[in-house]
Amino acid sequence: MVDALTAGVHRLEAIEGILADWSVSGDLATAAAFDLFAEHGRPLPADFWPHAVTTAVGASTLARRVGALPNDAFSLGLLHDLGTALVCRRAPQEFDGLVASGELEATHAHIAASALGVMRFPADIVEAIDEHHGAPGGGVASSWGRLLIAADAIALAIDESTSETNVPLGPALDAAGVPESAADALVDEVRAAREQLASFPA
Ligand SMILES: [Fe+2]
Ligand SMILES: [Fe+2]
Repeated sequence: MVDALTAGVHRLEAIEGILADWSVSGDLATAAAFDLFAEHGRPLPADFWPHAVTTAVGASTLARRVGALPNDAFSLGLLHDLGTALVCRRAPQEFDGLVASGELEATHAHIAASALGVMRFPADIVEAIDEHHGAPGGGVASSWGRLLIAADAIALAIDESTSETNVPLGPALDAAGVPESAADALVDEVRAAREQLASFPA
């Protein structure tokens, strides 16, 4: 037990070190983010881009329902799990331990928000990504955050992804301003739109 706790503390210290580096150097933050496309580190999870694209389609579909900007929503969905990719690239030796302990799910949203914040992405986009694993009915204050949680829940339902979990779809939709009764039709609509993009992440 003590060894497990010590290992967990060391992993968190490593992640905090990465965040500290980003916070003192905007240039380094930019370089770190674009390491996403570099050769070093470990490969991204196989479902990383498919899940990102499905979430983007889900977010833009939801945006049309609630009067938000679909293009901004698409970008938000595409970037929302950037933190997972950055751990793969910048702290590959920590990745398996973070997954096994459940800490990756708790930290990847904050890692992405920290990097995007340093790069001066819009504050509402950064906030939404930071809280996309929060409780949509209570602690998530922003409308973009609630929309993103619902889009993530739709994507996880469609792709049956095992990389992460989020809240059940019904409550997520309700918090985003879409009735739970629309869930089945919405999932069908997003699945059809996603299939049109099927060759994109292949
Ligand atoms: Fe996530
Ligand atoms: Fe996600």
